Amino acid sequence: KTSESEAAGGKLVMVTNAEFPPYEFREGNEIVGIDADIARAIADKLGMELEIEDMAFDSLIPAIQSGKADFTAAGMTVNEERKKNVDFTDTYAEAAQVIIVKEGSDIKSPDDLEGKKIGVQTGTTGDIYADDIKDADIQRFPKGMDGVMALTQGKVDAVIIDREPAKVFVKENAGLQVLDEAFTEEEYAIAVKKGNTELVEKMNGAIKELKESGELQKIVDKYITA
Ligand code: ARG
Repeated sequence: KTSESEAAGGKLVMVTNAEFPPYEFREGNEIVGIDADIARAIADKLGMELEIEDMAFDSLIPAIQSGKADFTAAGMTVNEERKKNVDFTDTYAEAAQVIIVKEGSDIKSPDDLEGKKIGVQTGTTGDIYADDIKDADIQRFPKGMDGVMALTQGKVDAVIIDREPAKVFVKENAGLQVLDEAFTEEEYAIAVKKGNTELVEKMNGAIKELKESGELQKIVDKYITA
């Protein structure tokens, strides 16, 4: 028994940023959502206890690198840059970056974002993509919802964020819409400390079982109604 998690007594410490419905959000004191439920199901399969800690999105990868936590499930998009710092499991969800604007906005597609004020959550792929938009004024927020508030207040012209949270935020705030044309397609996976192949393999086994048994889809359906 040599892995860090086993040394910690069969407990897995997960970190996330619970500002991202329907993947992770707070219901009272509890962190719930698709990622939280998937993580609980994985921990169950591995016979391990699960502890979930909430922190800023841009602190998640550092927490994994330092060994403060065993893994992060945070609607985290797999990309090459992150692969330099953490190892990813198999992907468990398809995602996309979309654009939220006020109803009636002159921004009708990603091409119209040039020179605009764009709100993003710090350190997300939305932040990274916004960086490439010509003459854009990027406003970074600790939470995606803060960017959406800035949009309703007219402080930014658009928000780039993941599709499912975008749908939730638009539902909760009158006068906003998600543009049909997505900015990019991406995929989510769980990230662990670089080199922790033992944990990646165990988790991949559990993810595979959850996919095959239909349990994963059940969790998704609990939070996303078509
Ligand atoms: N998918 C995006 C990324 O990986 C945003 C994830 C934000 N997640 C969160 N829990 N706040 O950068």
